[in-house]
Amino acid sequence: MIIKTIFVIIIGVIFSVNPITENKKRISAKTINNKALQPDGKQLFLLQCASCHHATRDLIGPSIYGVRSRWRNKNLLYQYIRNSSEVIKKDAYAKNLFIKWNKTVMTPFPKITNAEIELILNYVDSEAKRKGLM
Ligand code: HEC
Repeated sequence: MIIKTIFVIIIGVIFSVNPITENKKRISAKTINNKALQPDGKQLFLLQCASCHHATRDLIGPSIYGVRSRWRNKNLLYQYIRNSSEVIKKDAYAKNLFIKWNKTVMTPFPKITNAEIELILNYVDSEAKRKGLM
């Protein structure tokens, strides 16, 4: 009798836990597939960069459209956006830019991913193309 009760409880636990985890999986898959819930380049740009950068003209910092062609390699550019001070120490282009922009320090974004940076730069380039600048 006791064994039977324990058995029933175990089965019950297995069946009650499973649908919950299944459901969670389904929700996250749905979220990932939902374009509207994904961050897009424009949102990321407006939230994090627009206080200093305009897509197509100079502001507190330079306009950043077409910036990928100004940097000798992408990883350096990613690193620069995550922490510009580190790159200014070792790269002549970054150092000159810093001097040109009156040594204004760009906010570090240590958590920004390469993919998010690409989304932002794609958005900025698309704005420049829309205005016939690229
Ligand atoms: C506090 C102001 C500020 C914020 C916020 C800021 N930047 Fe900057 N950024 C600058 C300044 C100023 C420069 C010019 C270089 C310098 O002074 O170090 C610059 C330079 C750059 C450059 C190099 C441009 C070139 O011509 O090579 C890139 C790329 C860049 N920023 C991207 C971003 C991105 C992407 C964000 C948002 C995630 C961002 N910045 C947020 C101020 C800012």
